Amino acid sequence: MTYIDLRSDTVTRPTEAMRTAMYQAEVGDDVYGEDCLVNELQQRIADMLGKEAGLFVPSGTMSNQLAIRSQTQPGDEVICEYNSHIFNYEGGGPALLSGVQLHPLLADYGILTSEQISEAMRPTDHHYAQTRLICLENTHNRAGGVVYPLPVIEEVAGFATSQTISMHLDGARLMNAVISSGLDPSAYADHFDSVSLCLSKGLGAPVGSVLVGDAELIDRAHRFRKMFGGGMRQIGILAAAGIYALDHHIERLAEDHHHAKILAETCQELGYLENDIAWTQTNIVLLAFPEGNTAEMELKFKAAGLLVSVVNDQRIRLVTHLDFSKEQLQSSLEILKKVLG
Ligand SMILES: Cc1ncc(COP(=O)(O)O)c(C=O)c1O
Repeated sequence: MTYIDLRSDTVTRPTEAMRTAMYQAEVGDDVYGEDCLVNELQQRIADMLGKEAGLFVPSGTMSNQLAIRSQTQPGDEVICEYNSHIFNYEGGGPALLSGVQLHPLLADYGILTSEQISEAMRPTDHHYAQTRLICLENTHNRAGGVVYPLPVIEEVAGFATSQTISMHLDGARLMNAVISSGLDPSAYADHFDSVSLCLSKGLGAPVGSVLVGDAELIDRAHRFRKMFGGGMRQIGILAAAGIYALDHHIERLAEDHHHAKILAETCQELGYLENDIAWTQTNIVLLAFPEGNTAEMELKFKAAGLLVSVVNDQRIRLVTHLDFSKEQLQSSLEILKKVLG
């Protein structure tokens, strides 16, 4: 049986044209800084986000972990959102790799405000860990691809500056936020010391993320990348996929968002949409199952030909992507009606 796969936007396969770009890539040894395409990719993303420098890394997880390691000391505290990727899905990395404690705060739709953060700040007293870093996520994955409102980011950044706290953005899907909001990528990035952008999600590359920041921060992250075993050699073949994605797969994210909206409308009609439809802003649709039977529903969807992702016992996630066609959209709507109707 061939399945329609809506588990994640990471399931895409490189297109023929992307594979050709990878095949034709000129390569060098990136540990010596001699891979031209890696250098080009890093600088292009840094420029796009208005930062000095960039660092190509294997994954979004490594990128976030390098950002934390480069901007904290062991014993520090990092504020993040309770449902963030950093707190939930990075294997406890901050504790081991940076020796920091995370202070997760639960926020509506994953959107932490400056009020919440200022209330959570520790007093400057020997009893407390010192807050050094605030991490935000845009778009917010577990909240359902929600776009972080820029004015909220501005307020958080203003507060962080007043307290000399650094700001990191987990922008695994930042380009989805950019396409949805119509804002320039740098409008978001300007408020952060470091930004991580993934090429392997909606942008359709097989692997890779880029961490950007000022030259000094990226130099520190470079050293930690080596220490964490992330130094890679002839990876121009991967950078070529990333460059191809930047050239060809950004504008088309609008199509993924359109498909997600159509799926969300049907889920809403069937009474299973988690949030108000206005919150389906990008490529993620969250379904709610108050009965707590998502494992059973996953199997029913699979039997009908649709792969979905179980978030927890009450939530299922659908993610649209490059390999999800208009024909598959029609079939998915029929499956949703059959299984949920
Ligand atoms: C918001 C967010 N950040 C980071 C990551 C980590 O990316 P990777 O799987 O490349 O480590 C993901 C993965 O889905 C994500 O959704």
